[in-house]
Amino acid sequence: MSFALEWLDLREPADHAARDPSLLDAAAAFLMAAEAPLVVDLGAGSGSTLRAFGARVAGARWRLVDRDRALLGAAAARAGAETVEADLRAVDSLPLAGARLVTASALLDLVSAAWVERLAGLLAADVSLYAALSYDGTVIWEPALREDAAVLAAFNAHQRGDKGFGPALGPDAGRHLAQVLEERGFAVATAASPWQLGPEQWQLQAALAEGIGAAAVESGVVAGGWVQARREAAMAGVSSCIVGHLDVLALPVGARRQSKTTSVSSP
Ligand SMILES: C[S@@+](CC[C@H](N)C(=O)[O-])C[C@H]1O[C@@H](n2cnc3c(N)ncnc32)[C@H](O)[C@@H]1O
Repeated sequence: MSFALEWLDLREPADHAARDPSLLDAAAAFLMAAEAPLVVDLGAGSGSTLRAFGARVAGARWRLVDRDRALLGAAAARAGAETVEADLRAVDSLPLAGARLVTASALLDLVSAAWVERLAGLLAADVSLYAALSYDGTVIWEPALREDAAVLAAFNAHQRGDKGFGPALGPDAGRHLAQVLEERGFAVATAASPWQLGPEQWQLQAALAEGIGAAAVESGVVAGGWVQARREAAMAGVSSCIVGHLDVLALPVGARRQSKTTSVSSP
């Protein structure tokens, strides 16, 4: 599955606004407690996660891992970080050596439960994992259309299809990751990180509707009229949209974060 630089650039401001700031701060604080620490960003794309951390982690080293050479080229041109062209499906060969923090943003909904479990097993006891922006199955449009529910159901079914890693976790990715890491003894915190797209983000809304519609069609739902109506509403500046995501931070026990965020073990 490939992702266009234009799509990643279009979504980046919404992604940055959506990321839970307290988890980002906690991940950065853990990272910067070591000298010249290394972050390994899996499925880095054009380097959005590096930019989201920004000055919080000044002095940290970044290794950006992706299989898309063009995206890595854009990332390197923008950030000057180390890039590694690799296929994440070869989970046992991931270049994690030396990492204090492993990150993965807008990635885990593509992977399988088995992949997540294997990755969790590769994390050393003193390494933290920050996985942001895993889609949680929620898309709420305003104004609503009669076809929204059917299109969303088809889209979510498509999200669970194989994206190259086996059956994808899709909307379950964030919760599954949190559970696996908690079972492995990490101190896990989660936080909602929804896109909240207003009328001014009409381009992202229109592109999102096209993507959702295309996936719904692949799942057997006729969605052409719905996409057209959604595009028209977005371009007229009369629609807004919420897309649910979950951010997950797993810290080694003993490095438990102090700030207040919902723990996965909370009711
Ligand atoms: C939705 S993009 C997210 C990019 C970036 N993390 C961000 O937040 O903008 C998913 C990324 O995963 C990468 N990817 C997907 N499957 C991959 C695979 N099998 N091996 C390596 N990278 C992969 C894509 O090339 C893309 O850059």
